[in-house]
Amino acid sequence: MTFYDAVGGEEAFTRLVRRFYEGVAGDPVLRAMYPEEDLGPAEERLRLFLMQYWGGPRTYSERRGHPRLRMRHFPFRIGAAERDRWLEHMRAAVDSLELPRELDARLWEYLVYAAHSMVNVPEEE
Ligand code: HEM
Repeated sequence: MTFYDAVGGEEAFTRLVRRFYEGVAGDPVLRAMYPEEDLGPAEERLRLFLMQYWGGPRTYSERRGHPRLRMRHFPFRIGAAERDRWLEHMRAAVDSLELPRELDARLWEYLVYAAHSMVNVPEEE
């Protein structure tokens, strides 16, 4: 069984990303970074990316090509503050899924790692 199936497939990722973007919508710092007025398309891209990453359908790459996420984030200024806010909303979203502890830990470990790797400005001391 893939991790995608273990956590509950498309439904779980839909809930995760919906909840995450509710957080973004209410966060002035993050909200200002999103170029589009409608967050719906960004929500869909993150949802499809995460589904693909965890072994679900490959719709993300069919639509967007190779993820190259670090490169795709270069236009945005992501420092420690942005990363931490991103993770704060993502933590709330993961909590809302109420996954078994091991699945929660695996998902969270990846998200923390990925968020750290997206930082593209030097740490502010
Ligand atoms: C796109 C911000 C971390 C996955 C975006 C966009 C912004 C953004 C402003 C453009 C919105 C759009 O049009 O799609 C941030 C910030 C992060 C962060 C502030 C803090 C560290 C991450 C992480 C992941 C991720 C950790 C993956 C685990 C994506 C994906 C897209 C995206 C898949 C759409 C890429 C595309 O197909 O164009 N992000 N992001 N982001 N982000 Fe992030």
